Amino acid sequence: MKLILNPDEIAVAADEIKSGQVIAIPTETVYGLAADISQEKAVKQIFALKQRPTTHPLIIHISQGMKLSDYAVNIPDYVAALTKAFWPGPLTVILAKSKNVSLWVTGGQNTVGIRMPNHPVTLALIEQVGTPLAAPSANQFGKVSPTSSQHVLDEFGTSVKVLEGGECAIGIESTILDATDFTHCRILRPGMITAADIQKVVGDEILVKLGSKESPQVSGSLKYHYEPSKPTYLYHNEDELTQLQSLYGSGLCILTQTMHIKDNSEFVQVIQMPTTVEQYAKKFYESLRKADRSPCQAIAIQAPQRTMLWNGIWDRLLKSTAKSQHHLKELKSACTQNLQSQQEENYL
Ligand code: TXA
Ligand code: MG
Repeated sequence: MKLILNPDEIAVAADEIKSGQVIAIPTETVYGLAADISQEKAVKQIFALKQRPTTHPLIIHISQGMKLSDYAVNIPDYVAALTKAFWPGPLTVILAKSKNVSLWVTGGQNTVGIRMPNHPVTLALIEQVGTPLAAPSANQFGKVSPTSSQHVLDEFGTSVKVLEGGECAIGIESTILDATDFTHCRILRPGMITAADIQKVVGDEILVKLGSKESPQVSGSLKYHYEPSKPTYLYHNEDELTQLQSLYGSGLCILTQTMHIKDNSEFVQVIQMPTTVEQYAKKFYESLRKADRSPCQAIAIQAPQRTMLWNGIWDRLLKSTAKSQHHLKELKSACTQNLQSQQEENYL
């Protein structure tokens, strides 16, 4: 079976979606797993393929020919300024949903996440289908997002076709902004559009807040997410890297911004990470996948700088390493206890 549809086969992809199939689509952020929002069976198939709980809402993707007000109601004025500044682009706005958006898309909530992706192939596809496309990132629930058609094939094998759109230009998912409130808005998931970018556009009278209220709705807000299958750690300095080396020996694959590959034959693999945030974001998921495929036992990521521009990256870094870091802590305290009891025994 031919699994890749070329960009000149948009009409074929549109027919598949209209006939109720799920197909993977390119966007400027990551590839998505898409279905027509009006077809319940197709939308449910997205959840099944991803093994994602049906209470986690999907965002919907519209094209230039569609009106936001057809899909959302009670839209605060500042939203027009935001969509003018950032669409098509990596900003998802959460608004009260209109009756044209079903609860099977929003996981039972009365709000909907909407964005206009900045990818010519997908914009043309949406236009041809004639309805918005519901699409989460095209990866298994909780795993690393895909930034190329090959990643999607690696993730789903022969169960979905992929519309080819090249390597994603941005590389991490859109910034999600809760814009249901008239006096303030709230970033639920940071991305390459920062709080400062948003504040500049909405002006001083609208406060831009960070972090979710309690929202269990954002799967990106789960503590563990974007996880490689191998233990994955962050290191901040040489000492921390040495500690990891003492655990894994040469079985580490490291993602570093500073070390030179030729100096480090002691690691299974060294992946050089870019120093600018744009290039880092573009390479991040691909590098995690590459490290995960390598014969290493564990992955060590050098902590990059911590400024607002890097918030989107840090969000992914912390979630993809959270579980392993937690285990590392337990391991270290077990080692310390062992050492203590050994010392006590020696003393006795
Ligand atoms: O860049 C992106 O946003 C990519 C591309 C494919 O567009 N999509 C994406 O979708 O990242 P997904 O499902 O992997 O992440 C969207 C996040 C989820 O965590 C979901 O729970 C949250 O957005 N979300 C969607 N609708 C929401 C709503 N009404 N309220 C709160 N969170 C919502
Ligand atoms: Mg996702």
